[in-house]
Amino acid sequence: MLFFVMEKQDQGWWRNATIYQVYPRSFQDTDGDGEGDLQGVIKRLSYLRWLGVDAIWLSPFYKSPNKDGGYDVSDPRDVDPRFGNLSTAKDLIEETHNAGLKIIVDIVPNHFSTDHIWFKEAINSPGNSEARKRFHFYDGRGSTGEIPPNNWNSIFGGPAWTRLEDEINSQWYLHLFDSTQADLNWQNQDVRRDFERTLKFWLDLGVDGFRIDVAHGLAKDEILKDHPDPTGLTRALRLDVTGMPDNERAALLSDVPFFDREGVHEIYRSWRKIFDSYSGERISVAEAWVHPSSRAARYVRRDELHQIFNFDFLIAPWDGEFLVSAIKRILSEVGAVGAPATWVLSNHDSPRLVTRLGGGEIGQRRARAFALLTHSLPGGCYIYQGEELGLSDGSIPDSARQDPVYYRTKGIDKGRDGARVPMPWSNDPNFGFTKGRPWLPMSFDTSQSVETQMHVKESSLNLYHASLEIRRVHPALKKSHDQELIWLETQLGLIAFKREPGLAVYANTTNQDRIIRLNQPAKLLISSSADVKVIGPELHLAKDSTCWLEM
Ligand code: NOJ
Repeated sequence: MLFFVMEKQDQGWWRNATIYQVYPRSFQDTDGDGEGDLQGVIKRLSYLRWLGVDAIWLSPFYKSPNKDGGYDVSDPRDVDPRFGNLSTAKDLIEETHNAGLKIIVDIVPNHFSTDHIWFKEAINSPGNSEARKRFHFYDGRGSTGEIPPNNWNSIFGGPAWTRLEDEINSQWYLHLFDSTQADLNWQNQDVRRDFERTLKFWLDLGVDGFRIDVAHGLAKDEILKDHPDPTGLTRALRLDVTGMPDNERAALLSDVPFFDREGVHEIYRSWRKIFDSYSGERISVAEAWVHPSSRAARYVRRDELHQIFNFDFLIAPWDGEFLVSAIKRILSEVGAVGAPATWVLSNHDSPRLVTRLGGGEIGQRRARAFALLTHSLPGGCYIYQGEELGLSDGSIPDSARQDPVYYRTKGIDKGRDGARVPMPWSNDPNFGFTKGRPWLPMSFDTSQSVETQMHVKESSLNLYHASLEIRRVHPALKKSHDQELIWLETQLGLIAFKREPGLAVYANTTNQDRIIRLNQPAKLLISSSADVKVIGPELHLAKDSTCWLEM
């Protein structure tokens, strides 16, 4: 009976869940090597429970030479010693469940590290061997094969092809990212079988799902054909589009020969069968940048994946009209196939929210308002570690940078290290992150630590804690995704909607305080800043703020 009750409560847990992204290397170190580890995640589970999230998603902790923060996997069914071992992973899964949370892990199917045994086998095998067919190996063009098989660029900068140095077997292999991340050939049955094995391996250990890295990239079309504008395409993909007209960018992104091809869907249909064959609800969320965004719904059709990250908010300006139209569009697009929306304000690949919204006090203020707006929306909500603290990007001297993007673009793009600075937990040396030397410099002040913020009522941390609590218990917010928003007429630059029963959300994205006449009595439930007030029938909505009203 108890079992039955639990299963029922679990139903659709992911549709409205708040999922906290742990970047393990920067979360909590317990062995003094300056890098976070799985034991550290176990140590901080009570914090995550207190914060009020429903689940955690861990970026990769698998065996890896760590050339791209672990997204260069050399054994997907083992734990890298820097993070612990398989037994620590099992403990983590168990302890997460004991804490009443779900746990999602990353899977990286587009590429393997060149340290993977398959790649080593491939480079020691002849050109047309089975071992090479698991990757994309081709002869070069030109009289001596000195020209790569096509003109694609790596998304991290530089060419997407690297030539083997061996003179007899000197083919080129494809890598859409770093040269140590060789793209896998998903036409190959070994590749398919191996990933099925990996999925089952982690599902058997009890994980509740997967975040699928580069989910839109597995199928490639016309691999031997040049792209008409490889430089423009790379800029468009990297969002480095200053000066590029919108229509030009849209045209470039509408047909990328290595992204969002039809072939990916069949793979996810077969994966869905695996997820569904397990008890409980094991889920998947796709990291898939697709254009136009309406194509996202194709990944979350009923027999495919459960969620796809909607990255609109990750790059959105703090602008009322833009946000309203994005929210409407996303809810309607994924709603049409019965899937919940997702909301993402930051992750390990993008500048931190405060930095992106202008930095300093104004960035903080807008970030709080944006977060409170986001927490009121129906669907899954993803929070990147440290976002709850209102952290900005760390300042990193070039000599300390680690991201391959920095090196491959020859320093033109500073890369993503700024968003990956370890967590400031306490006011101890190294902010309680490590007893060793942190792998990236930590330059916080003590007001930013968890320890300090816990005791400051108005802190960003306490705002997240309070809003997530309301999100979990309020009858208007705890419902599943299909509850509609009721949009309210409002002034330019403001966002206003109701969620039934009895909750209204107002956001002011302008830099001026606004007064809104309410046509029914209202009580202020929570606001992103102290200068928001309900006075009689009026809501005084300060600039760059959001509030939730009980009506
Ligand atoms: C997306 C991941 O989030 C990012 O960190 C990684 O560099 C690329 N995929 C390649 O795996």
